[in-house]
Amino acid sequence: MSECFIGLMSGTSLDGVDGVLVDFTAAGAGALPMRVIGHEWLPFDEPLRQELLALNSPGHDQLHRAALAGNALARLYARLVAQLLKHCNVPGSDVRAIGAHGQTVRHRPGAFDGTGYTVQVNQPALLAELTHIDVVADFRSRDVAAGGQGAPLVPAFHQALLAREGYVVGVLNLGGIANLTLLGAHGDGSVTGFDCGPANVLLDGWHQRHRGGAYDAAGAWAASGHVQPDLLARMLSEPYFALPPPKSTGRDLFNQAWLDGHLAVGAPPAAADVQATLAELTACSIAADVQRHASAVRDLWLCGGGAFNADLRARLQRRLPGVTLRSTEAIGLPPTQVEATAFAWLARAFVHEQTGNLVSVTGARGPRRLGAWYPSK
Ligand SMILES: Nc1ncnc2c1ncn2[C@@H]1O[C@H](COP(=O)(O)OP(=O)(O)O)[C@@H](O)[C@H]1O
Ligand SMILES: [Mg+2]
Repeated sequence: MSECFIGLMSGTSLDGVDGVLVDFTAAGAGALPMRVIGHEWLPFDEPLRQELLALNSPGHDQLHRAALAGNALARLYARLVAQLLKHCNVPGSDVRAIGAHGQTVRHRPGAFDGTGYTVQVNQPALLAELTHIDVVADFRSRDVAAGGQGAPLVPAFHQALLAREGYVVGVLNLGGIANLTLLGAHGDGSVTGFDCGPANVLLDGWHQRHRGGAYDAAGAWAASGHVQPDLLARMLSEPYFALPPPKSTGRDLFNQAWLDGHLAVGAPPAAADVQATLAELTACSIAADVQRHASAVRDLWLCGGGAFNADLRARLQRRLPGVTLRSTEAIGLPPTQVEATAFAWLARAFVHEQTGNLVSVTGARGPRRLGAWYPSK
């Protein structure tokens, strides 16, 4: 049976969908224990992006709207799968399963009734119908049901990729949210992983509001501004930053309203100065987490779209002078492919009846098999 899997990831940045086709029987670039045969990215069209963004906060007739957004997302996922298979010259029948993350619109594990929920808009049945490939979806709910955060789920994959005896290493994913995996920081085999806070989500939003365009390319606008120490200190007083792991977050907390609340105090700074301060907030909160949880770390691998933000990288480097920061490209996996590959890996774990969560990361009561199965026939 084939060991080819597709991973589809659309994260909090709401930029679009990354998809990879991965062969787990072959060795890849560098020392990678898998071969990424191909990668494709498709942007959200503006109406879908706006609707997914709107579904992050309470609004009118959301069950109906979320169902239709799920259909639209499944069609986009299917289009990406078709494109990926075509460019890789691989027939769909060679793919064992697709791991389709869906779009997180609410993430409140442990809240309200003590169990809480995590909601990914998705329509895996339609994806199976359109692609004729089996689909694994809803990776997070089982971990939440077991008392966990349901996030981050990528640390198990980072461990499989990078853990070495006597080696303390970190992986920092700079998506909409920043999540950090620390391997070996508390002895061999130990894994810590959690969401630090915002990576790009506030930077993107502020840039879109004042400059248009999806994001601040290379962080050039942020680099032109001056960090406002009072604003930075106010934002850093957010209680989430001081919480011990396990913890995870999303747009539920870090959104434009959160930023506006902090800006409403005191004289409004120039827009570029706010952007600089937001970049510093990302760097500062991450650096504090690295120092608090893994002061022995010497290598920090960067992935997610924020790895291309030169200004953000420079700010991080200034705050972590003893740490070597490098893109995951150097280990054979470009930054845009890491998360999607992790969901191909998690789909494979499901198919092989293996558990996918790490209790040291999510805080779940025990290891669980993650996902739900949508057969193609
Ligand atoms: N060249 C670049 N310069 C600065 N930021 C970038 C660049 N390319 C991508 N990004 C940032 O990365 C984000 C997308 O990262 P991604 O890993 O896809 O996040 P998510 O998983 O949340 O969707 C963009 O929204 C943008 O903020
Ligand atoms: Mg993305």
